[in-house]
Amino acid sequence: MYSSLFGILNKAIEEQQQLLNHSLPKEMYEPMSYIIGLGGKRVRPLLTLIGCDVFEKNVQTAIPSALAVELFHNFSLIHDDILDKAPLRRGSSTVHEKWTNDIALLSGDGMLVKAFDILSQSSADHLPALLKLFSKTSLEVCEGQQLDMNFETLESVSVDQYIHMITFKTAVLLGCSLQLGAICAGADLKNQQHLYDFGKHVGIAFQILDDVLDVYAVDGKFGKQVGGDILSNKKTFLLLNAFEMANESQSRMLKEALQSNTGDHAHKIEVVTGIYNQLGIKELALQSANNHTDLALNHLNELEAAPTKKDDLKTFALHLLNRDM
Ligand code: IPE
Ligand code: IPE
Ligand code: MG
Ligand code: MG
Ligand code: MG
Repeated sequence: MYSSLFGILNKAIEEQQQLLNHSLPKEMYEPMSYIIGLGGKRVRPLLTLIGCDVFEKNVQTAIPSALAVELFHNFSLIHDDILDKAPLRRGSSTVHEKWTNDIALLSGDGMLVKAFDILSQSSADHLPALLKLFSKTSLEVCEGQQLDMNFETLESVSVDQYIHMITFKTAVLLGCSLQLGAICAGADLKNQQHLYDFGKHVGIAFQILDDVLDVYAVDGKFGKQVGGDILSNKKTFLLLNAFEMANESQSRMLKEALQSNTGDHAHKIEVVTGIYNQLGIKELALQSANNHTDLALNHLNELEAAPTKKDDLKTFALHLLNRDM
């Protein structure tokens, strides 16, 4: 499914990567080409093309938007890995590990600007709407990242606060990706909104599952350090709910683990994961992700588009949310 859209997308991304690879100064552009060359799922730009295709319009008009979202996403990953002190991305060294923090900051900045530059090549009649949505979403992602950082040191965070944080850091970009495509297709506002809300709820489910995978992924398959969220005391869906459900002794063990600075990473991960297992936190997270998937599908039902196109999008979303554990 979507193999022809994916082919069109990959060709456009590879062309961009070549351009970056030959740009100077190379210290700034090489890391951009490196992280894009590592691939990743390329879900967001594919959603942009799908957001156009679902209205049976030629996806070529949506290519600048698709490239912009993937460049923006990669910028956010380079900076996210600095913030999260992550060693691995897409199965390889993170940019700040392979080069330096300074290089990662600047090449990330450059890639963010490139994203807007490429978006500005969209057709003039759609450009104001595209820019407005893309700027708003970019700022929200940064706000979400700040909340994520703030939560690391907050004593208690509610599930509602957590959902708000992941809506901003992750989900709005999936909604935006689809809506950009819909704008390029000339869809009306009501249908743009249904696609956006569909993408947003898929995005919430996606981030909850990412939190689950951070603990339970089969090592080597995830492409990121397993247990990284536990080591950085992230207020993930799993940790919040564990604190809510823990008895006194489990709560004490969790707090001790979070405060420990012995450097014994494996032990910290083992203690926290052990408590998650006792409390059935993984199952709870999967249930919550399913609830958001259902909310997403309600919006897809409301969308005025060809039933076969809607079915394809539904199958794609369900497949995305069934990432191997
Ligand atoms: C990683 O996104 C960041 C999150 C929002 C969890 P992806 O899981 O889509 O990463 P890539 O692009 O496929 O590597
Ligand atoms: C990702 O959150 C949010 C953004 C990159 C904006 P995470 O920190 O959970 O993403 P991964 O797990 O490092 O990909
Ligand atoms: Mg991270
Ligand atoms: Mg992060
Ligand atoms: Mg994560």
